[in-house]
Amino acid sequence: MLQLYYGSDTHKTHEVVQNTILPLLRTEGVEVSDKVIPELTDDDWTEHDMFILGIPTWYYGELQSDWEAYFDHFKTLDFSGKTIALFGLGDQWGYDEWFIDGVGILAEVLLENGAELICPWPIEGYEFEKSRALKNENEFYGLALDEDNQYELTKSRCESWVNQVVAAFKEKGLKTQPVPSVELNADQESN
Ligand SMILES: Cc1cc2nc3c(=O)[nH]c(=O)nc-3n(C[C@H](O)[C@H](O)[C@H](O)COP(=O)(O)O)c2cc1C
Repeated sequence: MLQLYYGSDTHKTHEVVQNTILPLLRTEGVEVSDKVIPELTDDDWTEHDMFILGIPTWYYGELQSDWEAYFDHFKTLDFSGKTIALFGLGDQWGYDEWFIDGVGILAEVLLENGAELICPWPIEGYEFEKSRALKNENEFYGLALDEDNQYELTKSRCESWVNQVVAAFKEKGLKTQPVPSVELNADQESN
């Protein structure tokens, strides 16, 4: 079972999770449980091995408020043996020197504390000056979404990233459920 934990101040991350990422995962037959950061207990980390974490960046490169409140504790957690895919929301034009920095701040702690990060995302198609979320000169540590300037690209970006994430987690042993095929009725078949 996959876990998806996220924070959201003005609901944009929440909407992307609930309306796009979770439905896409379920369409792929993935059983996934989602929680917001204030709900987390230590069991939510120790009892599972595969996670998606979502974070928007706020106030010139700061963590979203729930992540901020949780961060001191987050830094004490052991992520050895955990496989984690990250995604972040940001505003590449309004905050172009801090684009999705929150993803980078989480990635630094996760790597330091033993996690394996999967599914980096190419920087092509974005315009920004700086980002702490750069894994190297070509890739972010995770999926970058910009609901402020490129909302029309969110769905296709999520589709492509979720495909990669599901394949990567399957390699780590994630079991998926068979997806029921849609039966066409006679009318639809003749169209
Ligand atoms: C006051 C303010 C500060 C922001 N600071 C940043 C920033 O430093 N970097 C960035 O990439 N986006 C920044 N953003 C953009 C938000 O990350 C973006 O709007 C995001 O979609 C908000 O997600 P949420 O509604 O889930 O909290 C900022 C937005 C506001 C309103």
